[in-house]
Amino acid sequence: MLRLILCLLMLLPSGCAMSATEDDRASSLIFEPQQLDMGEVTEGEKAVSFLRIRNTGSTMAQIVDVQASCGCTAVVPESRLLMPGQFTRVRVEIDTFAKMDQVKKWVELTDGEGRKSRAWLLLRVRADPHSDRTLRSLFDGKCRACHYDPAQGKHSGVAIYQAVCAMCHGERGQGAYAPKLAGHHDASVLRALIAQGTGSRHMPGFSRAAGGPLDEKQLRLLVDWILALDD
Ligand code: HEC
Ligand code: HEC
Repeated sequence: MLRLILCLLMLLPSGCAMSATEDDRASSLIFEPQQLDMGEVTEGEKAVSFLRIRNTGSTMAQIVDVQASCGCTAVVPESRLLMPGQFTRVRVEIDTFAKMDQVKKWVELTDGEGRKSRAWLLLRVRADPHSDRTLRSLFDGKCRACHYDPAQGKHSGVAIYQAVCAMCHGERGQGAYAPKLAGHHDASVLRALIAQGTGSRHMPGFSRAAGGPLDEKQLRLLVDWILALDD
């Protein structure tokens, strides 16, 4: 308690850092800023920015790992060991292909003691009519690891849905970034939309024939599962 009071009075800066880390397990490595508005970007362009990571603690701290959410990459520079008060820079890049409207992504670091710290990146994606002609797809390159591969070896409707659909349409088809799926009643219409896509890069065809990850049996299981969802 005494330490907390001294800490609040800023009389004991080192004790302060200790009690803070012991109490709430917050990392002393903090992103600056913790929320960054990257402005407006045309779809398909890359949005690039820099964040600082500062050691706000009183002892040396280490950046062990940096992870980023979908379509986002963060590169950590050489200096992973930071003395108190010292900072380093991280380059973050968001690939806006197939994104629309408001995008909110995160970058997260893990320090030497397993504690995490996050920064949020906000940007607005402006539609680009020309990008409909691009040959790129959600199933290419590094997008594939999360939007194609996870469907492999899944043999139930719910498992397939959770692997490659839920991230855009919501956990149970309630709609999120993409429209609601619960409430579809026509199996052949639903199958065609999933297999062939809607004709836009936002919803490519998921059948093998269309370059997607799902075989005939998986498509059938998935359609049955979606049709059975409560509206
Ligand atoms: C590490 C896994 C991963 C990779 C790699 C990945 N995604 Fe995603 N994607 C997700 C997840 C999870 C979501 C759900 C939203 C989120 O958590 O960011 C998502 C959501 C999306 C969305 C919906 C809008 C949004 O951003 O929320 C689009 C479009 C998208 N991804 C496109 C892509 C493209 C294009 C690539 C390749 C440049 C890609 N993704 C790479 C996991 C990934
Ligand atoms: C990267 C995000 C994303 C993923 C992953 C995704 N969808 Fe979509 N989906 C969309 C968007 C966006 C639309 C809206 C149509 C458009 O913009 O062309 C859509 C439209 C649809 C539609 C038509 C909806 C309607 O009522 O007109 C269906 C059906 C559908 N998706 C099913 C699925 C299924 C099933 C999966 C998994 C196999 C899936 N989607 C995966 C983004 C996605």
